[in-house]
Amino acid sequence: MAHNKKFNTRLGVIAATVGSAVGLGNIWRFPYECGQHGGGAFLLAYIVFAVAIGIPVICAEFVIGRSTGKNVAGAFKALRAAPLWRSVGWLGIFTSFLIMGFYSVVAGWCMDYIWQSLTGFGGVATEAAFHERFDEFSSDVWRPLGWTALFLVANFWVISRGVQKGIERISSVLMPLLFIILAVFCVYALTLPAAAEGLEFLLKPDFSQLTPDVLLSALGQAFFSLSVGMGVLITYASYFNRQTPLVRTATVTTALDTLVAVMAGVIIFPACFSFGEAPAAGPRLVFEVLPTVFMSMPLGRLWGALFFILLFVASLTSTLSLTEVTVAYFEGEHKMGRGKATAIDASGVGVMAALSSLSFGPLAGMTVCGLTFFNLLDFVSSNILMPLGGMLLAVYAGWVLDRSIIRHQLTPEGVRRVPAYVPLVVFSLKYLAPVAILAIFVTGLL
Ligand code: PHE
Repeated sequence: MAHNKKFNTRLGVIAATVGSAVGLGNIWRFPYECGQHGGGAFLLAYIVFAVAIGIPVICAEFVIGRSTGKNVAGAFKALRAAPLWRSVGWLGIFTSFLIMGFYSVVAGWCMDYIWQSLTGFGGVATEAAFHERFDEFSSDVWRPLGWTALFLVANFWVISRGVQKGIERISSVLMPLLFIILAVFCVYALTLPAAAEGLEFLLKPDFSQLTPDVLLSALGQAFFSLSVGMGVLITYASYFNRQTPLVRTATVTTALDTLVAVMAGVIIFPACFSFGEAPAAGPRLVFEVLPTVFMSMPLGRLWGALFFILLFVASLTSTLSLTEVTVAYFEGEHKMGRGKATAIDASGVGVMAALSSLSFGPLAGMTVCGLTFFNLLDFVSSNILMPLGGMLLAVYAGWVLDRSIIRHQLTPEGVRRVPAYVPLVVFSLKYLAPVAILAIFVTGLL
């Protein structure tokens, strides 16, 4: 097993990390959050948070993971951290359950939409008809449940085969393909009648929109999209070797991840305005807008199917990283075999996913603070638990962790002097990230 516990190549490291970051967060969640929270102002806030808070906290996770070579809980134990910091590990495992609970449902929808694209969505063409189709499908009991179950089977099957073989190979081949197909759709979206209006919505910030609510959502989106704040990156960094340049990996991941989200916006918003969909439609947004785009293109069924296949794979590389947090923990701390660890995780996740799938149909009336089970999992994990985890990680790395560990880990192998960006990262971890996250929590949640 030991040799299977490291990422083999430099490309493998990037592919797995970017594979975790790029997923439904960029293509499904970003457009719907951006559409509900002020367009350009949201994008601007998101980018500032990704760079000023996201990159430093990614670096903190990398340092903790690689210096200890352990899972989320084991890492804090190895560092002899106080109970408060060890709770970051537990928080991460808990958060991964919650995210899996709603994420796998959306991934299941993608699988259904592969099939629906191929069959031309039953011949419907108007936005209203796509709306109705989505309603009918998502409120059904068995069809979405079946796809979600199938998605989870795929996920846990790959996980049970081991880290490197499963994850590395899948990511390095298909991620570039997703990127290319998104570029093709961007070019096409720019030829749509309301392209200018859509781009203006996405790119032109209206500063009066920067309310506490928008800032909280943008912060949550940055954490969610970058997979940061809950230990995925601690776990992955424990599979990095000493040659992996941490700051560069963090920066490249953030840049590519943001690029994919912006590309999704460049496709969705011109299409929204051209086909008469409201940008604030919520989680259903891309499942109604994208089919209108595909069906207006030549060979649209094939484009649509190819797109949803790639989105399915992108989701899979993200859920693999989420599952790995928990499985690595069971393996490392409870000395369990990978098969047993996988089975335990899968049963917990299965229950969560079933409940959140049913919250679009029979359980739609069951709400907490006005949120259905699905929306609750989404809101609590991204807007509360991940930034909270990020804040604790920043304070731990900035104030408690031995500074020489940080300097040593962040200085690339073979470089003698500590590079100038290291103090910048430390500054954010000590002051900027904790203060900003706290301020946004206080204003946005109260
Ligand atoms: N970042 C992933 C995405 O954008 C989702 C994710 C969140 C993955 C948290 C791992 C941890 O789809």
